[in-house]
Amino acid sequence: VPEKFSHEVVFLPVSKGEGGVNFLDLIIKKRHGGRLSTSEIDYFISHYVRDMVPDYQVAALLMAICFSGLDRKETADLTLAMRDSGEVVDLSDMDGVVVDKHSTGGVGDTTTLITAPVVAACGLKVAKMSGRGLGHTGGTIDKLESIPGFNADIDMKRFKSIVRDSGLAIIGQTGELVPADRKLYALRDVTGTVDNISLIAASIMSKKLASGSDIIVLDVKTGNGAFMKEQSQAEELATVMVETGRDAGRKIMALVTDMNQPLGNAVGNSLEVKEAIEILQGKHRGDLRELSLRLAAQLVAAAGGADGVQAATGLVEQALESGAALERLARMIEAQGGDPQVCRDTSLLPEAEQKLSIRSPATGYLSEIVTGEVGMAAMLLGAGRTKKTDVIDPATGVWMSKRLGDFVKKDEEIAVFHVNDTKNLEQSERRFLSALVFSKKPPEKKALVYRTID
Ligand code: URA
Ligand code: CA
Repeated sequence: VPEKFSHEVVFLPVSKGEGGVNFLDLIIKKRHGGRLSTSEIDYFISHYVRDMVPDYQVAALLMAICFSGLDRKETADLTLAMRDSGEVVDLSDMDGVVVDKHSTGGVGDTTTLITAPVVAACGLKVAKMSGRGLGHTGGTIDKLESIPGFNADIDMKRFKSIVRDSGLAIIGQTGELVPADRKLYALRDVTGTVDNISLIAASIMSKKLASGSDIIVLDVKTGNGAFMKEQSQAEELATVMVETGRDAGRKIMALVTDMNQPLGNAVGNSLEVKEAIEILQGKHRGDLRELSLRLAAQLVAAAGGADGVQAATGLVEQALESGAALERLARMIEAQGGDPQVCRDTSLLPEAEQKLSIRSPATGYLSEIVTGEVGMAAMLLGAGRTKKTDVIDPATGVWMSKRLGDFVKKDEEIAVFHVNDTKNLEQSERRFLSALVFSKKPPEKKALVYRTID
């Protein structure tokens, strides 16, 4: 079999391949609504990851999956086959309970920087691999890298030793983890096959299962700034992921949470780190703090550290209010080469040259925020990438001065733009302002957490 198929037409043998599987049969079977067996799914993933099946056949299979679906068993089989396509991290030699959290992606969603140190201060071990932002959503690694000196590119041995000593470490996902997802995700992205619930669940859960924690809490976002716009879709995705994790022997639960406005006030990398630190310093309340603590309480309760979620809520609040969580974050930053003084003095974080006050174009209640557009506005200022090779400016972004339901007068400050390069400023401001809707009556208040699935 040739090693690479990408630029040539290749005819796969018509005879049955390994395990009696012929890829064309899989496509036709799924197109007609058939079920794929465990060995067929293993064949699909193990051959695709070794470049032994061409992209066009996998694209056809993905499209057939979008039309015919995968059942629970097929979804679990796909998740495990993807998990086993590369390195699987073994944390069984770690003392104590190792926990992880995952958000399906949002705007101003900095919960990890609060939840992780809080649960570490409650005695759990957090060994987290995070991603970078793409498009309108932010990524934890980009945020952490705005801290002077911080290094997210750490080998497994050192990673484990930091978790042992500091209780938490957050690194970028290593290239060896779930290579099948990297290939499949890139192909899904260009073949209109991203938003199938089984494919998303397998993509996320394969990575969670490969990274070796005992307990996982999922934050499944829904709303106009989320991947799943409809709550029912988000609940279905959450249910499938929880079932898949449980089938694989993990303790796992999901919160389905609101993404109809940025979660915190800050959208942008150093701005979000600053906001997270200020919350850990006890300076702010609000939705970001609330959700971060709710996620933390789920983990502490599941680890048996408290008798139920309500008792755990008391523990996590104490961990935050006593300053113990901030101390944990400082320890992690120091262990990963960063300046821990940022936890005391946030002015050590990168700051933009210009802070431009954005004024409200109307008087009324802020009744809708097209959240993805706020993320895009921040991205245009330099806070995100339009393509993988773009370089982020950590200091830039949008600080929201108002939240949904606030009454705003015309010309009152509604946001502050943190700007270094004014190249896209006009476009950014235009997109930001057109994302805001004002009304005469106050809008109905949305819940922060719609459902808990466990
Ligand atoms: N996040 C992922 O990691 N994978 C998906 O398919 C969607 C969101
Ligand atoms: Ca253990």
